[in-house]
Amino acid sequence: MSILARASKDIAKSHLVIRGKCSLSGELKVSGAKNSALVLMTAALLTEESIRIKNVPELTDIEGIVDILLTMGVTINRHSNEIQITADDLHHVELPYELVNGLRASFFCIGPLLARLGKAKIPLPGGCRIGARPVVEHIKGLKALGAFVNVEHGVVTASVPGESRRLKGADIVLDCPSVGATETILMASVLAEGTSTIENAAQEPEVQDLAKMLNKMGAQISGAGGPKITIKGVKKLNGCDYTVIPDRIEAGTFLIAAAITRSSLTVTPLIPEHLSAVLQKLRDCGCKFEPDKQGLKIIPGEITGVDITTQPYPGFPTDLQAPFMALLTTAKGTSIVTEKIYENRLQHVAELQRMGASIRVQGNAAVIQGIPELSAAPVTGGDLRSSAAMVLASMAAKGTSQLRGLDHLDRGYANLEGKLNQVGADIKRHQR
Ligand code: UD1
Repeated sequence: MSILARASKDIAKSHLVIRGKCSLSGELKVSGAKNSALVLMTAALLTEESIRIKNVPELTDIEGIVDILLTMGVTINRHSNEIQITADDLHHVELPYELVNGLRASFFCIGPLLARLGKAKIPLPGGCRIGARPVVEHIKGLKALGAFVNVEHGVVTASVPGESRRLKGADIVLDCPSVGATETILMASVLAEGTSTIENAAQEPEVQDLAKMLNKMGAQISGAGGPKITIKGVKKLNGCDYTVIPDRIEAGTFLIAAAITRSSLTVTPLIPEHLSAVLQKLRDCGCKFEPDKQGLKIIPGEITGVDITTQPYPGFPTDLQAPFMALLTTAKGTSIVTEKIYENRLQHVAELQRMGASIRVQGNAAVIQGIPELSAAPVTGGDLRSSAAMVLASMAAKGTSQLRGLDHLDRGYANLEGKLNQVGADIKRHQR
């Protein structure tokens, strides 16, 4: 059994006991970005030299990627939040279903494997609770770069024809600004022959982080962070040291934790530009901010309802929709939350309703009538971000709640209860 599977099995049995009506104060430390670290670790496959990545968060998803890299013959050395990856003996191009299942980020390996070895065989990542999550755009991009791609029996087999086994630069226009597709195409095209462009590219900070590290490795990428990225292919990439950006979703979750408990907190480190849409919505509903250290101090006032629509970056992130909805259940007045990225990302509504929230779902929108106080209940987080939402709702509720679904929570939040307890929360983990 893989480390990830073992860890998930143990975590699935545990639950959190969360005492509500807590008041928080002090400083919350933000870890490195999960969605950056995962892709940067697979980008290390693009060179035989060592890549040292700093500020890697301690998460079960990271353990999952470590497992996968190890099966490919990669050497990994770790010292607390630093991971050194050396892919000098990269030979295994097939990923087993048991390792890939449940870890979508494993699909990131396809770009580097094709670029470096000219072949890859990876099971389709499949959908998840929040939606279908296709990889059509990733495959379209790889085909445009000259790869033969065949999807059969749930497995994607890809190879680069010709003696050189080198992909060829191409102009690619994405149907939607998919983060994963943009990252896959970036990693595949950096070692291609000639120049590639990606139009309608995802502009997320994690895409920018990947392009920055690749450029440090010797790639020639320009325009990352905008809608058109240009990649001039190079023959070889070298090793480098790189520090992952702070996790904007964790930082946003902490700011919302302060708002829902009506507490003043400093959240650091945090890059305000990465959270502009979220900071704007928090201001609109009554919060003030002051720069503090490497981050921000949030000072919540009376919280009033606001409307939110999730969008690709720089719009409001879908990954903070559930936590923000938890906040809005306690706001004065009516709010409408519209989910535009995933077709099934309103599952937390039923759990919030168990805590007394007044929410009506209409298609992909939730109409929330704020109430003065949530009441504690046994609840379950059905996915990563809805689990976080339920932690926040429980901290604000009257009474003591029990939260299950920690396998999701631990995928994306490093020591969440430890961090929150340090600033005044009362959260205990029970193994059964
Ligand atoms: C990444 C993040 C995830 C975040 C999401 C959207 C990682 C590891 N995960 O996921 O936390 O919620 O961005 O910000 O970085 N789509 C297609 N066809 C495709 C690919 C995507 O239609 O080929 C659609 C998806 O169904 C979805 C939307 O595009 O509706 C966004 O997906 P995408 O940006 O690809 O998300 P991920 O990269 O999987």
